[in-house]
Amino acid sequence: MRGLAWPGLLAAAALGAAWAWAWLFWGRGFEARAGPTVLLRAEELRRFSGEEGSAGLYLALLGEVFDVSSGRRHYGPGGAYSFFAGRDASRAFATGDFSPSGLTDDLAGLSPSEALAIQEWLHFYRKNYAPVGKVSGRFYDAGGAATEALHHAEALAAEGGRLRAEQEEHKRHFPPCNAEWSAGGGGGGGGGSRVWCSKHSGGVSRDWSGVPRRLQEAGSVHGRCVCVQEEHAVGGPGLEVYEGCPPFAHSCAVKG
Ligand code: HEM
Repeated sequence: MRGLAWPGLLAAAALGAAWAWAWLFWGRGFEARAGPTVLLRAEELRRFSGEEGSAGLYLALLGEVFDVSSGRRHYGPGGAYSFFAGRDASRAFATGDFSPSGLTDDLAGLSPSEALAIQEWLHFYRKNYAPVGKVSGRFYDAGGAATEALHHAEALAAEGGRLRAEQEEHKRHFPPCNAEWSAGGGGGGGGGSRVWCSKHSGGVSRDWSGVPRRLQEAGSVHGRCVCVQEEHAVGGPGLEVYEGCPPFAHSCAVKG
C-alpha cells in the first residue's frame, strides 16, 4: 500500500503545481503576467499609476519598467513623486522639471552630465526595485530591442562620465582654497577676504597643502582660488600669484 502512495502523491503534487502556475500566469490576467520579460506599451504602463483600482504601481526610466510599490509613500497617490507613476519621465529625472511638459521621455538637447544623472537614477532603480520589463516606444521597439535613442542616451551618459572624471582629476590637481570674508580684511582696509590652503581645502584630502593661486578659466571674470603644490607653483598657464602676497605664502589677504 505504502509503495503505491508515492506515485499518487507525486501526480497530485505535479497537478497542484501546474494548477498554481496556470492560476498565477493566466488566471489573473495582465497584471499577474508581469515578469522580467514583459513588454508594455506606454498606454498599458499608464494603468500602473498606483491609484485605487489600478493594476499596480510601476514607473519606467530609459524604457526599463520597475515595480515601485515598495516606494508607495513616494510614488503612490499623494506622494511627493506620484507624477512619475505609470510613465517614463526620464527627462525630468535630470531637469527637475515636473510640469506636464517636463514629464517626458524626450531627451533632446540634454547635456552629457544630465544624461549621466539619468543613468545614475537607472542604477538606483535597478538596485532598489524589482524589474518588470520594458516599455516599447522611444527606447525599445515593439520587439523589445534597444533603439537608436537608447544608444544615443547611453553614449551621452558615457561622455558625461568621462567629463566628470576629468573634472575630478583637475580638482585633485588644483583643489579649491579655503576662504573667509572679513569687513576689515583684504589688506589696506576696506574689506576683503583671506584665502589659504590646508590638507583638506576644497573637500580634497591630500598629503600636501600647497599655496594659493588665482586660476583664470575660460568664462570666469575674476578667476578662482586654487591650491598648487609648491614645486609647481612658480607659474603655469592661467595661474597668478595674488597681488601683495609672497609667492610661497600659504595664506593671502585678497582685496575686494
Ligand atoms: C532633479 C530633481 C529631483 C529628482 C528627480 C528627485 C527624485 C526623487 C525620487 C525619485 C525620490 C524617491 C526615491 C526612492 O524611490 O526612494 C526622491 C526622494 C527624496 N527627495 Fe528628491 N528629487 C529631486 C530633487 C529633490 C530636492 C531639490 C529635494 C530637497 C529639497 C529632494 C528631497 C528628497 C527627499 C528628502 C527624498 C526622500 C524622502 C524620504 O525618504 O522620505 N529631492 N527624490
